[in-house]
Amino acid sequence: MALSDSERGYPASAGSAAYRRAAAGWLTRRFGISVDPDHALAACVGTKEFVASAAQYLRLRTPGRDTVLFPAVSYPTYAMGARLGGCRPVPVRELPGGGLDLDAVDRADTDRALALWVNSPSNPTGLLTDLDRSAAWGRSHGIPVLSDECYAEFTWDGPPRTILSSGVEGVLAVHSLSKRSNLAGARAGFFAGDPDLVGFLTDVRRHAGLMVPGPVQAGAVVAFDDDAHVEAQRGRYAERLPFLDEVLSGEGLVGPMPAGGFYLWLPVPEELSGDGWTAAEALALRAGLLVSPGDLYGPDGAGFIRVAVVQPMDRLRLVADRLADPVAAT
Ligand SMILES: Cc1ncc(COP(=O)(O)O)c(C=O)c1O
Repeated sequence: MALSDSERGYPASAGSAAYRRAAAGWLTRRFGISVDPDHALAACVGTKEFVASAAQYLRLRTPGRDTVLFPAVSYPTYAMGARLGGCRPVPVRELPGGGLDLDAVDRADTDRALALWVNSPSNPTGLLTDLDRSAAWGRSHGIPVLSDECYAEFTWDGPPRTILSSGVEGVLAVHSLSKRSNLAGARAGFFAGDPDLVGFLTDVRRHAGLMVPGPVQAGAVVAFDDDAHVEAQRGRYAERLPFLDEVLSGEGLVGPMPAGGFYLWLPVPEELSGDGWTAAEALALRAGLLVSPGDLYGPDGAGFIRVAVVQPMDRLRLVADRLADPVAAT
């Protein structure tokens, strides 16, 4: 970043050629797919702003549609982005093993849908979605499918997946260095897929002044080109997830290991109130462990907590010690 010599001029909103090539190169290495870095891929300033603004911009392209479909238990920015864009957020129920119950979407909502968001691996549930099926559904209804794949590197059940494996028509994959490279502070991501969608959004986003700073773009090239640090990070999560899962199951908070991502999504049993907020308060007071009450991800999440394993093992051991013996561990 310090050596990029790119501080003085405006950076390209779509990302420098080196940035786009590095991102496309990573897609090829990781997923075995190839996208045109000049027409089918562009930078975003981390992915939250993309998630929050996509509906607003897509509405300029298709003014007659005003509905955004998204998983019922999900990252809150899908619904917020719909509202910011003056659209109706319509949650889609998930099937028990993962995947959206797309057959249950109301015909009227389908007709009005501007986009469908999918998120696999999912924050917060850790479930995987059938991306090919989602893409096929979107194509058959003429609805762009926006696939938030920012946790793809941390796929535990099988290889990482992208919606782009089913082709680029009508779909966008959205990726971030925040999770892959643990670089949330840098603000670097990209979207890739259908050249018409990428071209339209790139043009609008340029006018909106959305740019990844030049030095960050230069640093991102290094991060996209390197896989060793991701492997190290995978190893950390792979150690922390089962450790904390076991500690919390000893407290009656029993849930499956995630198929992907670095969150435990744990139901709160009736004996422990059945309520995510009560369980979150108890863990904070007893162990200093901060977890998210599940209803932050939609009303269907109310009886759950989400635990992010983003602290090093010594902190997680301290949590275990405090839960085992609150007095001795103070
Ligand atoms: C599902 C999901 N999408 C997108 C983001 C946004 O990440 P960033 O803006 O840092 O790329 C997050 C962050 O937690 C997330 O969980």
